Amino acid sequence: MRITSALVDPALIDLPWSTPLEEWPADHLVALPQGISRHVVRFVKLQGTVYAVKETREKIAEREYDLLRALERISAPSVEAVAIVADRIAADGEHLEPVLVTRHLKFSLPYRALFSHTLRPDTMNRLLDALAALLVRMHLLGFFWGDCSLSNTLFRRDAGAFAAYLVDAETGQLHLRLSPGQRGEDLEIARTNIFGEALDLQAAGFLHEGIDPEHVSDEVVRRYETLWHELTHEQAVETDTRRQMDKRIRRLNELGFDVEEVSMSVVEEGGHRSILLRPKVVDAGHHTRRLLRLTGLDAEENQARALLNDLDAYRAESEDLPDEAQAAHRWLTEVFEPVIRAVPPHLRGKLEPPELFVQIIEHRWTLNENAGRDLGLAPAVQSFLNDVLVHRPDEQAVLGYDPDDEPDPDLIPDDDIIDDDDLEPDPSAR
Ligand SMILES: Nc1ncnc2c1ncn2[C@@H]1O[C@H](COP(=O)(O)OP(=O)(O)OP(=O)(O)O)[C@@H](O)[C@H]1O
Ligand SMILES: [Mg+2]
Repeated sequence: MRITSALVDPALIDLPWSTPLEEWPADHLVALPQGISRHVVRFVKLQGTVYAVKETREKIAEREYDLLRALERISAPSVEAVAIVADRIAADGEHLEPVLVTRHLKFSLPYRALFSHTLRPDTMNRLLDALAALLVRMHLLGFFWGDCSLSNTLFRRDAGAFAAYLVDAETGQLHLRLSPGQRGEDLEIARTNIFGEALDLQAAGFLHEGIDPEHVSDEVVRRYETLWHELTHEQAVETDTRRQMDKRIRRLNELGFDVEEVSMSVVEEGGHRSILLRPKVVDAGHHTRRLLRLTGLDAEENQARALLNDLDAYRAESEDLPDEAQAAHRWLTEVFEPVIRAVPPHLRGKLEPPELFVQIIEHRWTLNENAGRDLGLAPAVQSFLNDVLVHRPDEQAVLGYDPDDEPDPDLIPDDDIIDDDDLEPDPSAR
């Protein structure tokens, strides 16, 4: 047995590599919902970290490992490769296929878990938005996916929306940049895959009756094209160039993208002079990066936006905080951390801290609206914990692991993985 890894966790060596993955004993495995796949994929937990192990051919494992490592270097939203385990030999001397080990993406939901009940159309729209934005981000980075689909994507909650991650890079290619032809081809693959998946969902009764499978795949393409246009189109301005440029950059930042440079070219036509502006958008994560820089907190883009709004409001309310970094530090230690600490340990597996904080701010807003005045943060926290959070499913347990607790397999109902406000119960399942 031979392990190739950037950072070998020595515990990996002790896994039963001489047994085919299909036959691994249950005590090594954690039960997690997973997408449809051709290869055998299992999840194992070692020293509190969950890994996904996929048995595949050697060439494929190596390619995918290298690609995932390259994607990690350019901070692409994808799962992280951990190791390749090759030269596996069974007790009877038979050669076994190598495996690719990746780190399980925490708090992630495969789409099949999200669709375990019929999704409300607007939840569905947020999923399609996340998927389209993922494909745009990958294309901006020069990545041709070659197999974009719902089952090759993982979703995490992101302040009322979803953030999507690439999970299967087997067919991908990383280029310096993609031509329109390459993007178009990748988009057509996505369309075909998603159409097929939507048909399967419909056949299984999980697609809302108002949603047509063809509409699902067309919508991903439409959302992709709208976002791509917004990020990259060349804009002609005649006057007020400076202000127009600021406006465009601000709009792109709002969408979560950073602009590295703006190219300007002057065109004279019939005595008419205009300037063509073309921004070079670098990756998404504008708010994520600002929050990380200011507070050290790692959050998804929309979560980061909400946390930064709270931080800005806090700073505006405090008269003695002219300095942003100082304000951020004080907000972190006097607002954010006390809220997270107020969550009793048995409720901590339900939502990750940034999402929890965002939901508490939203809850406070609703309470204030109902009361017609600001009730303050502390009562909102208590009310959220007592009236909302206790009734939520334990998301980490649903996902099969909890840092303080061994998962209880009975906590993983297979027909009701996520029971969320977003998910409309399937009446036929009652
Ligand atoms: N790191 C990970 N974190 C969370 N889930 C994972 C991870 N790796 C794999 N999975 C789950 O396993 C499923 C199958 O993985 P993957 O798509 O890589 O397999 P595959 O056999 O190559 O798929 P395909 O049939 O598309 O070729 C995914 O849909 C996902 O649900
Ligand atoms: Mg796959």
